[in-house]
Amino acid sequence: MKILILGGGGREHAIGKKLLEDCSSMNLYFYPGNGGTGIIGKNIGNHYSTLELVFFAKKNAIDLTIVGSEIFLLEGIVDIFKNFGLKIIGPHYLAAKLEGDRIFSKSFMKKYGISTPKFEIFSCYKKAINFFKKKFFSVAIKTNGIAGGKGVILAHNKNEAKKALKTIMIEKKFGKSGDKIIIEEFIEGKEASIISIFNGKHLIPFLSAQDYKKIEENEKGMNTGGMGCVAPNPYMTNSIWMDFKKNILEPTLEGLISEKLTFFGFLYFGLMITSNKVYLLEYNTRIGDPEAQALLPLMKCNFLDIIQSSFYNKKKYIFWKKLCSCCVVLSSKGYPEKYESGKIIMGLNSLQEPFYIAGAKKEKKNWITSSGRVLNIVGVGKTIKEARKKAYDQVQKIHFENLYFRKDIGLYNNMK
Ligand code: GLY
Repeated sequence: MKILILGGGGREHAIGKKLLEDCSSMNLYFYPGNGGTGIIGKNIGNHYSTLELVFFAKKNAIDLTIVGSEIFLLEGIVDIFKNFGLKIIGPHYLAAKLEGDRIFSKSFMKKYGISTPKFEIFSCYKKAINFFKKKFFSVAIKTNGIAGGKGVILAHNKNEAKKALKTIMIEKKFGKSGDKIIIEEFIEGKEASIISIFNGKHLIPFLSAQDYKKIEENEKGMNTGGMGCVAPNPYMTNSIWMDFKKNILEPTLEGLISEKLTFFGFLYFGLMITSNKVYLLEYNTRIGDPEAQALLPLMKCNFLDIIQSSFYNKKKYIFWKKLCSCCVVLSSKGYPEKYESGKIIMGLNSLQEPFYIAGAKKEKKNWITSSGRVLNIVGVGKTIKEARKKAYDQVQKIHFENLYFRKDIGLYNNMK
């Protein structure tokens, strides 16, 4: 079997390692891949257009393509591959708008009665400013386009809100993605990620996870692609799961079917849990990064079977090890803004599995940093505390100039 995996981060390395763990004779190809994926498979090159990827897949008789990164989805790669008779897992262009177009997505949530924070849509700066004249509550101001995951500003008073509107709508910090905006009620709580696989008829949820999005400890500082992840999410209690199923998962499935947004692929629910309720903040139409790195080491079944069963509308239960995982992301100091690369990484050869390369490559005999997020180290244990200890013990083995990581991944009050 020949599989092409699209993306170049730790997530893609984790998908590749899990597929090989389940079936070692598989041939993996990655575009663009990274230093880690180049060891377990073949990185096919850089700067391919979608049609060049089609050509590659045809020429090399690729059996299945798995889309890791959203960049490809928003270019409509699934529709194009399908038109050429190629098997690909991921949403078609219209369904990918659930991630790529926030107004489309929030309107879908509203139409199907899905629990989501209240919101208003604006394309006129003056009207948006006027919105705050009568009363104020904390808000998240979001660009319509996803702006590389950056187009969200929180405002806790009128001045912050005005400044955010100016940044987005007048100064155009996020370009055209800020032509239309959403002002959303800010909900305080604990974040959770639930990834599910969609087979056109059922949405089958994975184990829950908690992503650590901010660069600094205690969720302070700038948003990042994710600085760590824990699975299962300790805030996802039974009653929160029931609430999620009834008020988010089931109406989402109803909406997807009614709107003819069915596809074979992953649907990720970005959630906020309050003391007694769960709200849907956003959909992503792919597996999360670093959620994949924390979840896949806990998956008991054959991942390819799970993916392939989705093509046959077959409801396949996913079994998980009764264990916990904690993934710590090692990054280059300065990320998510300016950072240096090209630093020699020491200690990689002494790491135990599971670990995943995100932004590192091998040059001659040395591993060197090549991106903001460099390495993902995962601890697996009976409790989150044990998983966390294993992960951080391994982190101590790695050294490079300007190494940065959060020290509070998997750290909870009253931890057993
Ligand atoms: N971890 C969040 C994301 O993948 O977008």
